[in-house]
Amino acid sequence: MNPPMPQHPDQAPDPLSIRRLYGRAQGHPLRERAQRLVDDLLPRLAVPPHGPLSAESLFGNACPLALEIGFGKGEHLAFQAARHPTWGFIGAEPYLNGVAGLLAEVEDRDLPNVRIHRGDALDVLERLPDASLSAAYLLHPDPWPKARHAKRRFVNPGPLALLHTKLRARAQFRIATDHVNYMRHVMFVMQNHPGFEWTAETPADWEDIPEDWPDTRFAQKARKLGHSVWRLIYTRL
Ligand SMILES: C[S@@+](CC[C@H](N)C(=O)[O-])C[C@H]1O[C@@H](n2cnc3c(N)ncnc32)[C@H](O)[C@@H]1O
Repeated sequence: MNPPMPQHPDQAPDPLSIRRLYGRAQGHPLRERAQRLVDDLLPRLAVPPHGPLSAESLFGNACPLALEIGFGKGEHLAFQAARHPTWGFIGAEPYLNGVAGLLAEVEDRDLPNVRIHRGDALDVLERLPDASLSAAYLLHPDPWPKARHAKRRFVNPGPLALLHTKLRARAQFRIATDHVNYMRHVMFVMQNHPGFEWTAETPADWEDIPEDWPDTRFAQKARKLGHSVWRLIYTRL
């Protein structure tokens, strides 16, 4: 048998080649309201399961698009959707209880500009036109702290190359993490991608909390435990 070929880091397995979701699909059973939202509202807001996607097909007009990858309970996505009513926001999240959380935000705030994919963000990204996203958010992604699991991290060459083609020039890609190793990993991988530029120029640029970037649940939990939260803003060149 031939020995295995050594792999260039750019060709190492990562989420794009593994194509498997590792997180929880559901937690506690849904309460009555959450179940109603999943049954009645989700079908109206769901991203179609197959075929090409566009601002027109999702929102009925050529609005700017933004994608949140793993929106958790959806509080950040709802905040952005309320703040930018002329944009269309797509959220991808496999965790049903999280999807129900975003649905509740959409209903409470009466947000017409949100669409939801219950599943892998890569399934949405692949179907969007190139240069169609005006912003992307990856907030407190699963850190996969063990070295042998690092290939599961979203911030890896395969997913980044795909995201890069889907972002418009000068679009922002915002990443938050409370995990120091993930932060280092992000800085290393992003610095090695020639198509992204880190916007921070002074320590304040990443230490101060931008007013258009509220803490998510995971950020709040981390701060309560006394952990740091890092926010990194990259521009697509
Ligand atoms: C640590 S939680 C953070 C949730 C939220 N962003 C926050 O900050 O509160 C990470 C989330 O990413 C979701 N996730 C993991 N892999 C994903 C993927 N490939 N596509 C979309 N969401 C994903 C998980 O289900 C989980 O809800």
